[in-house]
Amino acid sequence: LSLVVLISGGGSNLRALLEAASDAEYPARVVAVGADRDATGLAHAEEFGIPTFTVPYSSFPSREAWGEALLEQIRVWNPDLVVLSGLMRLLPANFVAQLAPNLINTHPAYLPEFPGAHAVRDAITAGAAQSGASIIVVDNGVDTGSIIVQERVPVLEGDTEHSLHERIKPVERRLLVQTVLDIANGLDLTKV
Ligand code: GRF
Repeated sequence: LSLVVLISGGGSNLRALLEAASDAEYPARVVAVGADRDATGLAHAEEFGIPTFTVPYSSFPSREAWGEALLEQIRVWNPDLVVLSGLMRLLPANFVAQLAPNLINTHPAYLPEFPGAHAVRDAITAGAAQSGASIIVVDNGVDTGSIIVQERVPVLEGDTEHSLHERIKPVERRLLVQTVLDIANGLDLTKV
């Protein structure tokens, strides 16, 4: 299974996929890594010798134009699956329509709880006793797609946004690596 992974930040989830894919037994390969900005996580791809591309959101007149340019880059690699792994950008409808259902996202909350760009902070603010990690199929909503898999993560006394996020990320990484494996082994994303 060939993957293009899209990031905006540090790429710790990306790194987990790169490490899993470097095992010859793992039936998926990251063929390219893209970002909507000069993401520090691109360094992980460079370390693993994986091609990278950047489509800076700020260089385009509209979200749709950016989406088209991003799609053009992805098409170069013709991946079986596109993985959003810390891409902090809402995707335009044209982008989703072209790729669905072969477009998944990892989210640091137990959806439908705490959708959106500040999920971990929102869980802390809400005084939630537990949050979680979710892997979903991307649709046109904000974190509203079908849930492929999700797992609860406890919120501990005195947790900050950072400490909770650091507890969620390892769960995300494990779920993401497992989900890509399941898809490579035939999981039908139209049936989740
Ligand atoms: C992850 O928790 C992801 O779910 C969220 O942002 C974080 C990205 O972390 N959208 P990283 O860039 O993979 O380290």
